[in-house]
Amino acid sequence: MPSVKVNKIQKLFGKMKAVDGISFEVKDGELLTLLGPSGCGKSTTLRLIAGLERPDAGEISVGNKVLSSNEKKIFTPPEKRGMGMVFQSYAVWPHMTVGENVAYPLALRHVPKEVQKEKVRSALELVGLGGLGDRPGTLLSGGQQQRVALARALVFEPETLLLDEPLSNLDAKLRESMRIELKALQQRIGVTSVYVTHDQAEAMVLSDHILVMNQGHVEQEGPPREIYENPKTQFVMDFIGQVNYIEGKVVEVTPQGTLVKALQAPGNSSLQCTRLETTRGGQDVLLCIRPQDMTLYKEKPPERPNVWMCTVKVAAYMGDHEEYELTHGDQVLKVSGPASLKLRAGDNVFVELVPEGIKVWERKK
Ligand SMILES: Nc1ncnc2c1ncn2[C@@H]1O[C@H](COP(=O)(O)OP(=O)(O)OP(=O)(O)O)[C@@H](O)[C@H]1O
Ligand SMILES: [Mg+2]
Repeated sequence: MPSVKVNKIQKLFGKMKAVDGISFEVKDGELLTLLGPSGCGKSTTLRLIAGLERPDAGEISVGNKVLSSNEKKIFTPPEKRGMGMVFQSYAVWPHMTVGENVAYPLALRHVPKEVQKEKVRSALELVGLGGLGDRPGTLLSGGQQQRVALARALVFEPETLLLDEPLSNLDAKLRESMRIELKALQQRIGVTSVYVTHDQAEAMVLSDHILVMNQGHVEQEGPPREIYENPKTQFVMDFIGQVNYIEGKVVEVTPQGTLVKALQAPGNSSLQCTRLETTRGGQDVLLCIRPQDMTLYKEKPPERPNVWMCTVKVAAYMGDHEEYELTHGDQVLKVSGPASLKLRAGDNVFVELVPEGIKVWERKK
């Protein structure tokens, strides 16, 4: 399957830059996710690739074929782009059977009836709906309708698959299982795919690459692990996963690391941080730490830096683990721990804030 290349693509609505010169490449057989908050331009980017919107600048190509270029005055209409599409509202037509729904793109392409039949049968098989071809479209569960939409997008063996929040109409449990199913299917058929979601967990599970978008531009691109472990901006760190914020002021920078006063903690107790190449004494900083970079102890662990005695404010039992809201003076921390700790509101607990897990950003007043 060919790769998809998007080069400095731009789309304006009036004066608003919905997509502001973004570039990326989805390699052969990979799945790239456009991830970002509502209104950041994800759907517009996908619609530009599909040819449902005309760009104001930039170039889009699949393999060696340029599909859209303002400079070269090329614009291939959507039906000639050979792309399968699945949207949030899965749009299964109720007056048709499942089989007729799936056959629709083939009928549009004047594929002979006999060939249609065989292709529909194998597309339904592919999405786990084998044998349901004669069922009316209305008699399907949400998950089944989503599969019909997927079969319809795949039935003409597209080179590219575009998916815009295809799972967001499903309940939480179904969504989770469909995620994994979708990933397995995409890998099996190896179709180059662009996926849109604002759900970071979904993006992590599904993607080979994630492109984090904010207000029409790219904040960061990379494999899920890299985005999660090395967020380049505060926006990315905040958007992907849970974060605790600690307002601080740099005390001193030494070769071993940097000492930061935590302003909301009692007596401005300080924290050792390691990742502080660019800081200087007296600087206002914002420390960010994820719950999994904090360890809870009932007894004070000896000789470790960054151990705070905290009070449990809220303890939420989650079955396999517990989530706690703790305070250390006015500093609030959200931490999770094993259910076996059995901490209750009012208990004291020791929290280690692992220096390597603390990320430091400049704090603007
Ligand atoms: N046809 C249009 N006319 C005018 N403005 C539009 C149009 N389509 C989108 N926009 C605006 O462009 C911006 C980007 O919209 P887009 O639909 O791409 O966002 P999104 O990231 O998909 O958001 P969501 O997660 O809510 O679906 C938004 O501010 C939106 O209001
Ligand atoms: Mg959208």
